[in-house]
Amino acid sequence: MKEYNFAKRVKQLDDNEISELLKLVGKADIISFAGGIPDADIFPMKDLEILISELMKNIGSSLFQYGSTEGSNNLKDFIISFFKERKLYCNRDELLITTGSQQGLDIISKIFLNPGDRVIMESPAYLGAIAAIKSYEADIIEIEQDYDGIKLDLLENQLIRFKKEGNQAKFIYVVPEFSNPSGTRLPLEKRKKLIELAEKYDTYIIEDDPYSQLNYYSSSIPFMKSIDEYNRVIYLGTFSKIFVPGLRIAWIIASSDLIKVFSMAKQNAILASNTFGQELIAYAGKKGFVNKQIKKLIPHYQIRLENMRDALEKYFPKTCKWNIPTGGFFFWVKLPYGVNSRILFDIAVKNKVAFVPGNSFYSNLDEGKKYIRLSFSDSKPEDIKKGIEILGKLISNYQKELNNL
Ligand SMILES: Cc1ncc(COP(=O)(O)O)c(C=O)c1O
Repeated sequence: MKEYNFAKRVKQLDDNEISELLKLVGKADIISFAGGIPDADIFPMKDLEILISELMKNIGSSLFQYGSTEGSNNLKDFIISFFKERKLYCNRDELLITTGSQQGLDIISKIFLNPGDRVIMESPAYLGAIAAIKSYEADIIEIEQDYDGIKLDLLENQLIRFKKEGNQAKFIYVVPEFSNPSGTRLPLEKRKKLIELAEKYDTYIIEDDPYSQLNYYSSSIPFMKSIDEYNRVIYLGTFSKIFVPGLRIAWIIASSDLIKVFSMAKQNAILASNTFGQELIAYAGKKGFVNKQIKKLIPHYQIRLENMRDALEKYFPKTCKWNIPTGGFFFWVKLPYGVNSRILFDIAVKNKVAFVPGNSFYSNLDEGKKYIRLSFSDSKPEDIKKGIEILGKLISNYQKELNNL
């Protein structure tokens, strides 16, 4: 490529594997467990057709006009009532509509981070969050997860170390519900303790929450934002996984003073979000179609989760380890000793199966080569069985070759 005189931070924008992987998702002959995307076959197409034509009649041309930076009040009012039903209370001033949660991550990073600032992330972590935070040249400190999320003793040790150095973490990033990629859930006691730590060490928590409504066995845990007495939690929500991702409508809930600053960053970047998408979701929500869609998604994805659970049990070598998630989209599998996920990926693609190698979910640590992320959301049950059987054989063969060395 030609040498351009770009800004220094461009070096942080690595063209990671996600773009290559997303290309695979589109190839019909590959069984892909790679993209953590929803199943388009269950999008509410009939409902959308009716809603769109009603909206066009009722609202007309202003559907296509610029909107306010903060976002549509109709949409905010729906989000407020949606969360009221779920015992999280907020008002319009505490909400900013964003273009996907990915924009929320970018805005928060832009507002909080100077080059070299420290950010603590659960590890492994969502690769889009790692990328957004890295692009502002932050120093990412990865704190290992247990079967129930970020390890709080390690986290507190790190916070103490920072304090001794006269430093601090700008924020702590977690996905408390069915994390991407690990599938873990943070129990209530850990949520409370994490908020206490944020208050004690003067930092903030990003509660990134695309998956809490995809809870297949309905044991609910309060949102961190709903038990946050100190205004330390910045909540990110999105319609991508519970309605449709293509409209790119999501939101941030935070204290009104933070929302004002976030809104300025959004204004400079995109002026306003997509008016049509906001009004469409607001209208769908008001008429009960969002809750209806969530009810439809739960059994749909639960079956896929259980298909993958059973196929893993049946076809994967016993030397692989994984936890069974109770929501979200992902299984996070530890490979047998010596099996490298990146090498396995190349072998798997040749055999028409894809997944995400673990490396993508770490920013510094070399742990990722031991893991793979398998998404069950966008594969039909028969493909899940077939793909996991192929992958199981490939792992066993790889392991045998290692044993013969
Ligand atoms: C944990 C997490 N955060 C954020 C996002 C981005 O969501 P959106 O489509 O709202 O940008 C995703 C998407 O996969 C995700 O898994």
